[in-house]
Amino acid sequence: MRHICIHVDGFGNIGRAFTRLLLSKSSLLDALDIRVCGVYDSTGGIYKPDGIDAQRIEELLKLPRSSLGSVGSKALNVAETWRAGDIIVEATPSIYDESHPINKRFIELIYSGAVIVTANKAPLALRPDLIVSYGLPSAGQRLYLSATVMAGTPLVWLAYGLAGRRVKRLIGVLNATTNYILTLVEEGYSMKEAIRRAQEEGIAEPDPSIDIEGYDPAAKLAILSTILGYPRSINDVARTPLTAIPEEEVRSPGEDVRVKYIAYLDPEKAYVRPEKIGTSLAAARVAWNMNAVTIEVEDYMIEVTGPGGGPSPTAGALLSDLINAARHRERAV
Ligand SMILES: NC(=O)c1ccc[n+]([C@@H]2O[C@H](COP(=O)([O-])OP(=O)(O)OC[C@H]3O[C@@H](n4cnc5c(N)ncnc54)[C@H](OP(=O)(O)O)[C@@H]3O)[C@@H](O)[C@H]2O)c1
Repeated sequence: MRHICIHVDGFGNIGRAFTRLLLSKSSLLDALDIRVCGVYDSTGGIYKPDGIDAQRIEELLKLPRSSLGSVGSKALNVAETWRAGDIIVEATPSIYDESHPINKRFIELIYSGAVIVTANKAPLALRPDLIVSYGLPSAGQRLYLSATVMAGTPLVWLAYGLAGRRVKRLIGVLNATTNYILTLVEEGYSMKEAIRRAQEEGIAEPDPSIDIEGYDPAAKLAILSTILGYPRSINDVARTPLTAIPEEEVRSPGEDVRVKYIAYLDPEKAYVRPEKIGTSLAAARVAWNMNAVTIEVEDYMIEVTGPGGGPSPTAGALLSDLINAARHRERAV
C-alpha cells in the first residue's frame, strides 16, 4: 500500500502548530506510514508526492507568512495536487460566505471524494448537509471535525456518543474570546478597554467582529446542533452581539447569576447572546479562556468543562482526527 500523503492547507497559526506537532511524532508517522506531501498558503505551495523531508519542513516553519508561493510554486493549491487516499488538513480562514473560493473549493473537494480533517468551521456551519453525509462516524466518514468546536476538549466525540438519544437542550460557553472579555469587564474594565486588552494579549483578533458579533459561537453551535440530530446552518442561529449587554449588568448581575456569552439550542431554536444564567450551570462558572457545556439528555444532565481552541489544543484535535482518518483508510483498503 502507498504511504498516506498529508496536505496541510493553510500555513498560519493552526497549520504551523499542527505541522510542528506532527514532526514531533516521528514514531507515529512511521507506524501509520504518513508523510507530509503538500503545504499551502494564500500565495501558493510546495508538493512532493513522496513526502517533503523533515529538515525542509523545519525550514518552511521558520519562514514568515505568505512565503510558500515564492519558495515553492505560485500556481499550486491542494485542489490540483491531492489524490485519492490522501488526507487534507484544512486550516484556512473561516469565512461565512458560501460563495467564497475557499468554501467552494472545500465543498468541491468533499464531493470529489477527498478525506478532510478540518479546523475551518465555516463550510460545515454553512452546509450542515456535509456533516450529515460525510462527518458522522460511519464506514463512509470522510470529514473529521473535532478541531472545530472546543478543540481542547473532545466535545464532538461526546456529541457523537449521544446518537439516538433525545437531546432536550444544550447551553454553554463556546467562545473563549468573549468569555475572556466578560471576565475583564467583571474585574472593572470597560467593554472597550477589555476588547483592546484582549487584542493586545493576542486573545482577540485585530478585527474582533467574528467573536464579538457572535459568528464564531454561532458556527460552533450549528455544527453541534447538526451532530446532535437537529441539522442547522449558521443562518438558523440567532445572533446578538456581546456589546448589547450593559457593563453594569456584567459587574453586578445579582445573586447566584453571572453574565456569559451563551450558546443555546433546543429542538425549536438556537441562539447566541449575552445572558444572565444561574451559577448551577457549568457555563456560569468558567472564566477567562475556558469553555463549558451542559447537555440535557432524556432526564439527565451531562456537563463538560475544558479548554476551547488556541493553536496547541487545536493542533492536538487535528492530530487525533488524522489518526482516526488514517485508521479508517487502512481498514478501507
Ligand atoms: N486560532 C485558533 O485558535 C483556532 C481554533 C480552532 C479553529 N480555528 C480555525 O482554524 C483555521 C485557521 O486559523 P488560524 O488561526 O491558523 O488562521 P491564520 O493564522 O490566519 O492562517 C490561515 C492560513 O490560511 C492561508 N490561506 C488563506 N487563503 C488561502 C487559500 N486560498 N489557500 C490556501 N491557504 C490559504 C493563509 O495564508 P497566508 O499565510 O498567506 O496568509 C494562512 O496561512 C480558521 O478557519 C479558524 O477558524 C482556529
